Amino acid sequence: MSAEDSSFCSDVPGRTMIVAIDGPSGAGKSTIARRLASHFGLLNLETGAMYRAFALKALREGLPLDDSKGLEALASETTITLEPGEEDNRVLLDGEDVTGLLRNQIVTDAASRVSVFPAIRVWMVRLQQQLGEKGGVVMEGRDIGTVVFPHAEVKIFLDAAPEVRGLRRYDQLGGSSRKPEIQPEEVIQDLRARDQRDRTRADSPLRAAADAVVLDSTDMTLEEAVQAAVDIVTAKLSKPLDQSTDQLAS
Ligand code: DC
Repeated sequence: MSAEDSSFCSDVPGRTMIVAIDGPSGAGKSTIARRLASHFGLLNLETGAMYRAFALKALREGLPLDDSKGLEALASETTITLEPGEEDNRVLLDGEDVTGLLRNQIVTDAASRVSVFPAIRVWMVRLQQQLGEKGGVVMEGRDIGTVVFPHAEVKIFLDAAPEVRGLRRYDQLGGSSRKPEIQPEEVIQDLRARDQRDRTRADSPLRAAADAVVLDSTDMTLEEAVQAAVDIVTAKLSKPLDQSTDQLAS
């Protein structure tokens, strides 16, 4: 199916559909967003990669991650570009392709720290709004349905129990065959700390939008969760345009 398909008309004139996917780490957002994008012929945009790229720059500059003024100044001289690809997005930091440098634990932790600052969020939100303004996208993050695109046609809040998310992350990191070795408990603890920071920051904390459909994948396989997400989008597409996402959530 193509994004040009008339069923992808949006409630906003002149724009095609936006699917907002939010939720904590390890809930399966990236995979589900990628699969939804491919299924419905939309572009997949991972906003977390933008926070990660900025965190990488701050780490490279040796800037303390709690120095809000320093981070703000750094942001003013930083260019981040997100290019949708077949699988992952390509991320350019000041023109350098840093895609392969963003998934390690140090950058992961730093991204969560730099993302608490309002000035950084205002900058990122503006970039993300520009990226998605024409629609035809699945945008994935923490505040897409609440702040970046509060009028997105479909909002899904993906969640799962912290232990389940932690074990998924542990497997992604290489599980018991990983060198140097890590323990699942360490990964779960780390994920809880990031959850806590993401959910309690003063500016746009992680939460489900009032009109989001909450999809809890605790007891689902990834395939089941993907199918449930496809069904949510399909249900929205089959509704007349005057029925908003509010009704979907109920
Ligand atoms: O989705 P991710 O794990 O790549 O995100 C990395 C960090 O970036 C995450 O800890 C919180 C932050 N983030 C955010 O605050 N808002 C977004 N829209 C996306 C990510």
